[in-house]
Amino acid sequence: MLTNRPRGTNDIMPGDVEQWQFIEQTARDVFRRFHVTEVRTPIFEHTELFARGVGETTDIVEKEMYTFEDRGERSLTLRPEGTASAVRAFVEHKLHAQPQPTKLFYIGPMFRYERPQAGRYRQFHQFGVELIGVEHPSVDAEVIALAMTFYKELGLTRLSLEINSVGSPGSRENYRTALREHLAPVKEHLCKDCQSRYDRNPMRILDCKNETCKQHTQGAPMMLDHLVEEDAAHFKAVCEYLDSFGIEYIVNPRMVRGLDYYTQTAFEIIESGSTICGGGRYNGLVQQIGGPDMPGIGFAGGLERCLLALETQGVELPIPTGIDAFLVALGDAAQKRTVTLLQELRVNGLVADKDYLGKSMKAQMKAADRNQARFVVIIGDDELAQGVANVKNMATGEQYSVALDALVAHLTELTK
Ligand code: HAM
Repeated sequence: MLTNRPRGTNDIMPGDVEQWQFIEQTARDVFRRFHVTEVRTPIFEHTELFARGVGETTDIVEKEMYTFEDRGERSLTLRPEGTASAVRAFVEHKLHAQPQPTKLFYIGPMFRYERPQAGRYRQFHQFGVELIGVEHPSVDAEVIALAMTFYKELGLTRLSLEINSVGSPGSRENYRTALREHLAPVKEHLCKDCQSRYDRNPMRILDCKNETCKQHTQGAPMMLDHLVEEDAAHFKAVCEYLDSFGIEYIVNPRMVRGLDYYTQTAFEIIESGSTICGGGRYNGLVQQIGGPDMPGIGFAGGLERCLLALETQGVELPIPTGIDAFLVALGDAAQKRTVTLLQELRVNGLVADKDYLGKSMKAQMKAADRNQARFVVIIGDDELAQGVANVKNMATGEQYSVALDALVAHLTELTK
């Protein structure tokens, strides 16, 4: 028990963590170019925020939240997603009083009590973007383009972008009626979950993975055919902007996102059947959380799913390995000298290391190899007496001596 991590969580160990860092850095680089700045919100929030923001009838709120009472008997929840928190921070810090838009990103762990499987965890990691304050359809396309640019720069290809409009509340009212009418005769045959969705949130029935439910929704009316004029025009404009960016997409009229705050545009990016990124517009959320009536749109991608996609597509990330210099000491005096030399090299910007266990020359050379050192610096008592060090260039095998007091400058120059 003590040595087992909780189910659905992962340790990200050396050897893997470099890939995470690379992906996070790529995200930060792309976000910066799109002029999106970071926000860091707490890992837990008042439960009420997610219940209201994400929606009482969603799977997330009904079944998946890690909710607990703290010692002050407040109900808190580990964040299952980042949008509600980002919007809460936007409202709490009165960013709405500043000129718009506000463009925020976050990267970090999220928590959902789901059944773990490949690509689905209880603690997982998202990078997300929220663009608040602009209703224009070009912004929808810009946010989608941002997500696509990120994946492209990582080297992923063959991604499928699916988009839909889930309409504004006005469109949805008409649509729900049409959908309920269509499903009324088969209601009894739907799964238990869908029977309760029928009254509370019938659109979610379209998203059910149960085969019988899938069959019964085959000829169901689609939201896209029930959009009010404004929503239809918005969707058409988003598609046109995507066309103008040269971004390919598939209109998937059955796509229903699993969170309640979406209005109008919804989208997902899919790789080999797995949704690696999802997002959409949420024009009612800011107000729902207590701010003014302001539109918003955003997305979040899963880091674990991004890694799986990279693996599936055989993409090797260009992660630098190895160190600049490894110090080999022979004898006590030399050993002492390498301690200070190591510090000097590091202060000067080199990635450097040494043996700590007083091993043999052979063992130290092996360690230098294992650490993929570009240069090995060998100092014995003789070298020390002469005030020099032996430097070995591990790529060429070339070996030469350098004055100890010129060594740091020499290696700094070579490893620039
Ligand atoms: P979501 O679709 O629930 O949307 O999650 C976004 C992404 O997070 C998914 O596409 C998937 O890659 C990853 N993900 C979700 N659950 C898990 C899990 N249990 N294990 C591993 N990865 C997972 C949202 O969270 C919205 N907040 C996105 C958004 C931002 N919409 C507007 N702004």
